[in-house]
Amino acid sequence: MGSTPVANPSPPRRWRFSRRVVPLAFLALAVIALVAIGVAVVWPSDGADSEWTAVARVDELAVNDPLAVEGDVYLVLLESGEILALSQIDPHLGCKVPFAPDFEYMGDTGWFRNPCHGETYDLTGVCYFGPCPRGLDRYEVRVRDGDVEVSFARLTEGPDNSARDGREPVTLD
Ligand code: FES
Repeated sequence: MGSTPVANPSPPRRWRFSRRVVPLAFLALAVIALVAIGVAVVWPSDGADSEWTAVARVDELAVNDPLAVEGDVYLVLLESGEILALSQIDPHLGCKVPFAPDFEYMGDTGWFRNPCHGETYDLTGVCYFGPCPRGLDRYEVRVRDGDVEVSFARLTEGPDNSARDGREPVTLD
């Protein structure tokens, strides 16, 4: 009996790049990178939208009347029209600082007042009394389409105690 002829398998194909392909690929990558950099420069972003969280409507804010919102934040609309997003967390030891609308001190009414050790902050978060190392920390805040948005990724340390407006704290009983 004769044996059945078997075709020899063809040798595996080897990928061969033309000498021109590799430099062209690098050139294409370089062009893509340059375009991406150019777009980032021409349209600088103030942060990806995903970084911002809408926490209130702007018309919910009343001047000098802090609004507690999610994320342990107070939104404060100042008389100047500026909106601050203050952390409710006391930089002293981390207690949550309530707003005391009826608390009178140094001729003003309405302070952030920590009952633990009496840390006392004005509406801009500047510390006027107590063992606070600095004022209340601040998140970046913006208004978009009537929404007040906070970036919880952007927190800066509160103002130095020297930021007091020339008034010196008085001793509380
Ligand atoms: S933060 Fe609680 S005692 Fe100061």
